Amino acid sequence: PTVGVVIPAAGRGTRAGQGCQKAYRRIEGDTVINRTLKLFRSWDATCPIVVVHHVDDENVLEASIDRDSNIHTTKGGAERGASVLEGLRFLSTVKDCPSHVFIHDAARPFASNGLLNTVMDAITKDPSVGVIPGVAVADTLKKTTSDGLITETVPRDNIFRVQTPQAFELDTILAAHEKAAISGLSYTDDASLFQQLGIPTRVVPGESKNIKLTYAEDFDEAKQLVRSNNQ
Ligand code: CTP
Ligand code: MG
Repeated sequence: PTVGVVIPAAGRGTRAGQGCQKAYRRIEGDTVINRTLKLFRSWDATCPIVVVHHVDDENVLEASIDRDSNIHTTKGGAERGASVLEGLRFLSTVKDCPSHVFIHDAARPFASNGLLNTVMDAITKDPSVGVIPGVAVADTLKKTTSDGLITETVPRDNIFRVQTPQAFELDTILAAHEKAAISGLSYTDDASLFQQLGIPTRVVPGESKNIKLTYAEDFDEAKQLVRSNNQ
């Protein structure tokens, strides 16, 4: 398979707060979005990458990244799904359009090249099946009533917290998003769109350090990760 990347970065970062949108914040000197781009560039120097930004963020994005001729930018929508759809549409128009897409949140700059290889190996073996990284749940899971009384212990076998990059055949995931957009379905997860088409998605081992920067305190952990990775 050949691969392109869509990076949704068009959210508002409301939960992280702190003024500037989280993708454009600096951790030890470099922005979150540029760290995410460097991750892909260290893995593949030339694959097409589409960064999807908020309509108000064109200038801050430009000031936050080291661009090359295969990094493209386009405007996103109100929901993550709408932003991904814009990115997929753009990717499908680039010269030498790839067979597959990695969809990866701008807010996850700490995925490793090893994880990208794991995802790539899985789509190479089984190109029509979706692939997403997941980490097994370590805590005991309890289900409760709405006022907090435990009703059952949920078995955690085969339960995963899923991450990005999520990889799919480009034409298929684009068609699935187009269909969902027309029907007005809200969708936070690309794999669930594949599921609705009856196409399986496989979970491959994710990484505990592949955190999604969501809350202000996640930036403290991010600083530690940058230091320990010498990034
Ligand atoms: N995203 C997007 N377009 C949207 C909403 C989210 O491209 N309309 C992107 C975010 O920029 C982020 C990723 O999807 O890289 C995951 O979303 P999340 O972590 O929820 O980021 P935000 O939506 O920006 O944050 P919040 O929900 O706290 O406002
Ligand atoms: Mg959000």
